[in-house]
Amino acid sequence: MRLEGKTAIVTGAGRGLGKGIALKLAQEGASVMICDMVEENAQSVVQEIEASGGKASYQICNVAVLDEVNALFEKTLDAYGKVDILVNNAGINRDSMLHKMSVEQWDQVIAVNLTGTFYMTQAAAKLMREQESGAIINISSASWLGNVGQANYAASKAGVVGLTKTAARELAKKGVTCNAICPGFIETDMTRGVPEKVWDIMVGKIPMGRAGKPSDVANMVAFLASEEADYITGEVINVGGGMVL
Ligand code: CAA
Repeated sequence: MRLEGKTAIVTGAGRGLGKGIALKLAQEGASVMICDMVEENAQSVVQEIEASGGKASYQICNVAVLDEVNALFEKTLDAYGKVDILVNNAGINRDSMLHKMSVEQWDQVIAVNLTGTFYMTQAAAKLMREQESGAIINISSASWLGNVGQANYAASKAGVVGLTKTAARELAKKGVTCNAICPGFIETDMTRGVPEKVWDIMVGKIPMGRAGKPSDVANMVAFLASEEADYITGEVINVGGGMVL
């Protein structure tokens, strides 16, 4: 129970990686605000956490819309009075080869993955500077180094790395950490959407020979959110079975 008494917001927590992260933080004792766009998914994660004795609420929020982000923070403060941990996990992909990518595919991915992470991080930074504590964990991706079919996604996730390192430098004096995790190829609805031949290519690049599980990433999030990681900031940590070495 490393997170007893802490309050966490997890974006995109209705399924996949975000759900795994929310369940783990709750298991470690945090009260978790589940942020998602699909009410049914958010509700079911809250029920799952409550059924195992944890604390959670949900708020429907599109992180790419500033008013909705502000409403999410208001709701969290009303419910729990503070925000100790922010996990920016919400993300989308609109994969296409660069020469065929539409402006809409580019804009949608940048809006959610990068601008959404900026809105959320800025709102958290304001609160955490005041309380002089906090941990921000951004979910980037191994794709930030470039991945065929993902010019938009890779650019957004590389942007998240730059945002993370800047936030880390600015917030360090206030006792607030900001780190990024780069999941490799993790079994989620997002990765299940890739063509079979690409699945084989991706798993073929993993020295451990298998795709990861959401819990592999959630374990790293819980560590970075805990006091054990108080002296770690601005890091970009791969969780990918050796996919990026
Ligand atoms: N590595 C190497 N080669 C790849 C590749 C990859 N990751 N992805 C595609 N290619 C190759 C294909 O094998 C193909 O080669 P050939 O022409 O020799 O057959 C070529 O690139 C073009 O691919 P397609 O024929 O599939 O072209 P398309 O226009 O029909 O589709 C695409 C393009 C939509 C990008 C499709 O290839 C695709 O969906 N690729 C998957 C992209 C991907 O890796 N997404 C990751 C999703 S998971 C995620 O985003 C989470 C995370 O953080 C990693």
